[in-house]
Amino acid sequence: MVNPRRIGVFTSGGDAPGMNACVRAIVRTAIAHDLEVVGIRRGYAGMIDADFVEMDGRSVSNIVQQGGTILKSARSELFRTPEGRTKANENLKAAGIDALVGGGGDGTFRGATLLYDEHGVCTVGCPGTIDNDLFGTDETIGYDTALNTAIENIDRIRDTADAHDRLFLVEVMGRDAGFIALNCGIGGGAELVLVPETFTEMEDIKTRILSLMTAQSRSSIVVVAEGDEHGGAQHIEAALREDEAFKSIDLRVCILGHTQRGGSPTARDRVLASRLGAAAVEALLEGHENVMVGLVNNETKLTPLRNVWSRKKNINYELLRLTQLLS
Ligand code: F6P
Repeated sequence: MVNPRRIGVFTSGGDAPGMNACVRAIVRTAIAHDLEVVGIRRGYAGMIDADFVEMDGRSVSNIVQQGGTILKSARSELFRTPEGRTKANENLKAAGIDALVGGGGDGTFRGATLLYDEHGVCTVGCPGTIDNDLFGTDETIGYDTALNTAIENIDRIRDTADAHDRLFLVEVMGRDAGFIALNCGIGGGAELVLVPETFTEMEDIKTRILSLMTAQSRSSIVVVAEGDEHGGAQHIEAALREDEAFKSIDLRVCILGHTQRGGSPTARDRVLASRLGAAAVEALLEGHENVMVGLVNNETKLTPLRNVWSRKKNINYELLRLTQLLS
């Protein structure tokens, strides 16, 4: 069991709104428990480069409302190699860092598991990704903000779609998961939602859109998760444009992309991040190793890091039925 005196705090993978609130909670909770805190910049890349900075309570002033991450983030190719992880471990040891507390997604926790298996470095993680695709928590830090950003944009797109009687394919983020697509589809009143978790034949997509465009309205919004099996909105657009039946339909594509990753976190994300950051430090002090702190039914819950990335969190299929019912 680690008895930490000095911890390293880091953010890794795709940034997510609320990561700063999480870093703030980690740093302030650690200091309240008389721990020393070292900030690690650029996640695993920064461990390999020894990009470290001493932190105190003031280092995290005025960041709770900021998007991005003051510690910066990265996806490190070198850390995927045993040599990269050995170098990271050497640097952590040299800096006197006893354990890590950090936020990230599945790739981050895969990396942390390897660092523990190979070098015994203990991590307690907080779920930080807009995709909401981590097992062990009802919601990830950043998801609520991204969802609200997507809905706000869909509302805007609907105005112009309606004015011109257009069909819009709106692509939202979600590499492997349809949480954002499904929920912003419902909240934004989309006529059709396409997610990676279900397979929809292209012919069925066409039939559905054509029936919507001729029946209720001449404008429609189809929300497509970027990880959908047809390869995203542009691939679907190409397939529709090749079809004679779509020649008279005014079709546009809008890819929301990284707009969903930025911006000030919602109240919900700030509170979630603050709770999980503090709980992560306290879990470490209670002797837990290699776990992620999630929120399940509004209570903090620990899940072994290995389960976080090896198990799948499912979308709510009932919500998918709802999108069909309401369109
Ligand atoms: O994992 C979060 C995420 O935003 C995914 O939705 C998306 O596929 C990916 O990151 C994009 O990553 P990058 O910013 O490295 O292109």
